[in-house]
Amino acid sequence: MPDLLTYEPFVLSSLEGEEAPLTAIQEEILELKKKRNAVILAHNYQIEPIQRIADFIGDSLGLAYQAASTEADIILFCGVHFMAETAKIVNPSRTVLLPELEAGCSLSDSCPAERLAAYKKENPEAYIVAYINCSAAVKALSDVICTSGNAVKIVERIPEDKEILFVPDQNLGQWVAGKTKRSMKLWPGSCYAHVLFTVRALEKTKLKYPNAPVIVHPECTEAVRDMADEICSTELMVKYCKESDAKEIIVVTESGMLHRLRKEIPGKTFIAGPTDTCACNDCRFMKMNTIEKVRDALLYMKPEIQMPEDIRSAAYQPIKRMLDWSKA
Ligand code: 13P
Ligand code: SF4
Repeated sequence: MPDLLTYEPFVLSSLEGEEAPLTAIQEEILELKKKRNAVILAHNYQIEPIQRIADFIGDSLGLAYQAASTEADIILFCGVHFMAETAKIVNPSRTVLLPELEAGCSLSDSCPAERLAAYKKENPEAYIVAYINCSAAVKALSDVICTSGNAVKIVERIPEDKEILFVPDQNLGQWVAGKTKRSMKLWPGSCYAHVLFTVRALEKTKLKYPNAPVIVHPECTEAVRDMADEICSTELMVKYCKESDAKEIIVVTESGMLHRLRKEIPGKTFIAGPTDTCACNDCRFMKMNTIEKVRDALLYMKPEIQMPEDIRSAAYQPIKRMLDWSKA
């Protein structure tokens, strides 16, 4: 095991004064965006140069609402594949572009649709709650979708007599089961990036920042969640950091999150959650999108998200249920 003292914490403090001017490629993207009547939606984990030119930055839930309501002809989705697919499902008449088609998700991959279909055949009574980090084909087999931002609320709405199977994230599922006091079967999937955060590394960081509250994404393991002052989605992390009196906050999720916090919250210092080998933690899929690929997507109008209409319309029903239940 590497010595935890061999690296310094990864720290970003809020921006002071003017931001650097946009680069030529960022200017080019903004021009193309206008020409194409496109909207750029970016997840909180995207690299800073992409967040800078986005029309909306948010978590999976916020991005799904934005995708559903946009008037733009083109949705350029800077995130991972399942997120862009969700945009297409909720707004099929728009062209949805993803800068890098290979930007997948380990969590989504851990639940192949064929395996879920086989489970349903064996357990026809099961009520399937699918975390939004899954493929369109898995959504199409599900009863309701949830995100980390609304999972507790969604599960609370499900009638008591239903036997719930929660897919694909066992960590989020376990957290929701505890919050709702609802027994649920959990699909054995996890996010490869969030399970890398460890208690040992976090304890070390806490020694350096003893007064800093710890906010943790629910995809982390139970042992790490147990160290949290707050467990929430990436969007709720922004809210927590805005409202907290703390000047230093340890943020246990993918490190792209720190860019948005630094930009929007003045006067505070954000410390990235550590793993045993690194002071911060990137999702390799989220980081496949580059500013050049964003420009090329708008220039060449590809890669485009497409899916069979029967899958899309079946996947839309549980998403719609989520959007309705989430608003209520
Ligand atoms: P949020 O919806 O909380 O942003 O989470 C998305 C995700 O992929 C976390 O790994
Ligand atoms: Fe998937 Fe994890 Fe990356 Fe989120 S951080 S997109 S859950 S692999």
